[in-house]
Amino acid sequence: MSNDKNLHINRLFKELSIYNKDDLKNISKQLNIKSTELEFYNNKMIFPSGKALDSILKFKNCSELELKLRLGIVDNELIEWISRNPEVIVNNYNLEDNCSERDVKLQENFSTKYGKLYKGDCLNIMKGMKDNSVDLIFADPPFNLKKTYESGINDYISEQEYIEWTEKWILECLRILSPGGSIFIYNLPYWNSYTSNILNKYANFRHWISVSMKGLIPVAKKLQPEHYSLLYYIKGERPKVFNKQRIPVQTCRHCGGEIRDYGGKKKSLDPCGLSISDIFMDINPVRHKKYKNRESNELPVKLLYRVISLASNEGDTVFDPFGGSGTTYVVAEYLKRNWVGVEIGSLDDIVYRFNNKSIDLKLLQNISKESNVLFTDNQVKLRRKNGFWCYEKLDKKINGTQKELLSNL
Ligand SMILES: C[S@@+](CC[C@H](N)C(=O)[O-])C[C@H]1O[C@@H](n2cnc3c(N)ncnc32)[C@H](O)[C@@H]1O
Repeated sequence: MSNDKNLHINRLFKELSIYNKDDLKNISKQLNIKSTELEFYNNKMIFPSGKALDSILKFKNCSELELKLRLGIVDNELIEWISRNPEVIVNNYNLEDNCSERDVKLQENFSTKYGKLYKGDCLNIMKGMKDNSVDLIFADPPFNLKKTYESGINDYISEQEYIEWTEKWILECLRILSPGGSIFIYNLPYWNSYTSNILNKYANFRHWISVSMKGLIPVAKKLQPEHYSLLYYIKGERPKVFNKQRIPVQTCRHCGGEIRDYGGKKKSLDPCGLSISDIFMDINPVRHKKYKNRESNELPVKLLYRVISLASNEGDTVFDPFGGSGTTYVVAEYLKRNWVGVEIGSLDDIVYRFNNKSIDLKLLQNISKESNVLFTDNQVKLRRKNGFWCYEKLDKKINGTQKELLSNL
């Protein structure tokens, strides 16, 4: 029985003994279901419906409940029943105890004043990390999109494998996260809908943040994708750290006029800027060669600056299991957070970045200057020139930083 590389063998195909294209053709004929439809239910792990369901039940000679269980689909009513009859599972299922594997001794491959970087599989590295030992986790895993990574990892595994793998590393992350610590997971909205499902069982939902990204590839017969999802959860009831972030008013880059009309409310705007919402409109992808540290994707410094400033304080420990070019680590370092990093592939891009600080430092200085102000220096200049209102129209007092900003004009 040979497996076909282009076919993802999820639970439905296993149940129907489909392991290659020929099997698929034969079984779809026997079931009188188009092979594309069978593939759809298998790949997306969606419970079949209508005629397809009837045919599969007849073919398997089983009930709908049995098929659901075989496909790993458990409705809440059944969960309720299991929770009242746990002995049925406990007596028949022996959960492996992996605790003994946790005694892994770690040896870092690179270190800085604040950080330690390991080369390896994050699942193994996390085994060597203590419970409750980090304060903030940011994870930007591979998106399973057939992308080529420098590390050569397979970025096109079946949906079932990807979700099972996601659950594994998330559970480890939650183990090492300290109570009240925050975890942020960046992914496509599609994958994060599954990730959310995993997290909802163990962590406390704070936000589904949309990180607006223009220029994503259009998809036929679908809405134009314009955001990535950034999940924000905490361990336990309350966040240990929540440093409210403020951003400047969005203005027209030609005239400086505000894009949204604040009407009569403008007088009461906070001179430190607008409260950040769960839609990040001001994050631009890293495209320019000058700022890019490697061929494959790399997150903007500004996104990490925001997350780390929001959910940690100086001296806290930040962990990112998927290093890539090390964006999380450089931002953590320059914001004086301890950090722990892992990358399965080469660490060269990350090490290079630490040895060539000037671009990241310049970016961070600019970002920091443009955070927690109502208008940036440039906005103030343009607005003054074109007669738009500025700080003097506000009711609230301007703090030290803003005074400095104004006196520089
Ligand atoms: C989407 S990239 C992260 C990019 C990073 N946020 C940045 O800004 O540069 C994902 C990275 O995770 C690495 N990776 C994939 N599987 C891994 C694993 N099991 N353990 C550690 N790193 C892994 C890949 O080699 C890739 O560099």
